Amino acid sequence: MAAIYVTRKIPQPGMDMLLDREPETGINPDNRALTPDELKKAVVGNDAVLCLLTDTIDVQVLENADRAVVFANFAVGFNNVDVSAATERGILVTNTPGVLTDATADMAWALLFAVARQVVAADRYTREGRFEGWDPLLFLGGDISERTLGIVGAGRIGTAVGERAAGFRMRVIYASNSDNDAMDRLGAKRVKLDELLAEADFVSVHVPLNEETTHIIGARELGIMKPTAYLINTARGPVVDEAVLVEALAKKKIAGAGLDVFEEEPAMAPGLAELDNVVIAPHIASATVMTRNKMATMAAGNLLAALDGTRPDNLVNPEVLGSHGLRADISA
Ligand code: GLV
Repeated sequence: MAAIYVTRKIPQPGMDMLLDREPETGINPDNRALTPDELKKAVVGNDAVLCLLTDTIDVQVLENADRAVVFANFAVGFNNVDVSAATERGILVTNTPGVLTDATADMAWALLFAVARQVVAADRYTREGRFEGWDPLLFLGGDISERTLGIVGAGRIGTAVGERAAGFRMRVIYASNSDNDAMDRLGAKRVKLDELLAEADFVSVHVPLNEETTHIIGARELGIMKPTAYLINTARGPVVDEAVLVEALAKKKIAGAGLDVFEEEPAMAPGLAELDNVVIAPHIASATVMTRNKMATMAAGNLLAALDGTRPDNLVNPEVLGSHGLRADISA
């Protein structure tokens, strides 16, 4: 028998996999993230933990996880986990790549359309009974077709965002640490970040969060963007300096922003929610029924593989396999 712990309810197909294996699987009974203290207590004595991007898996949590062989993160991003501290302790860390690529790319486009065409403000206006008939000057927005889309970070999600631009006959440029064949096949051109910022009508950010990408979009970068351009962020809040973005939006230094993520979630930078040139969503880019089911089964599959002594498909710290402190019974 193995002790499994789930830090918050996930979609049932994933829960079922865990419960089939261990009917006594522990779960946070409340539909909210655990507090740091609760998390530290919850992991003690468990052999495997399924955690969320809202759980900070730091050294203290890992120290308390005295028996854990794996932390299976229910997210593609794993910036919430101190991966090197996990590796040092012989603990596997897994994520859920691939299955949320399309849903996240779709959401980037949803925000792009919503902010450029003022969909949210127009909806509110119409519901409030303020629509008095067609008006040549009502809710004039930004054009999308044939404009330039700048993609920062050309991994799976950035590439999927680029693919969708073909239907709008857009020019696609991207900034990335390396060439990307899929982007090249789309006819997208790799440029330096500053060139992208200067040329793009839409800048969509798709980098993982790490030291190098924190505030990759700050005052200087926003200053390079065109006053008619829009910023879209479905990656992680801290890749954008949110306080500086609020100022840029308030002063109309850029035309608008579509944000699914925030620096200090669930809080937003002061003033952000009062602006009318921003569309905001509560970190729901991967929130489709099918995608969340797939994330749940993938995370559960990773966790069970580790318990069963098989290499999980989505191991983010493969270097742990060779270490002699490895807790899982897996040969390298
Ligand atoms: C969601 O934000 C994820 O990283 O999966």
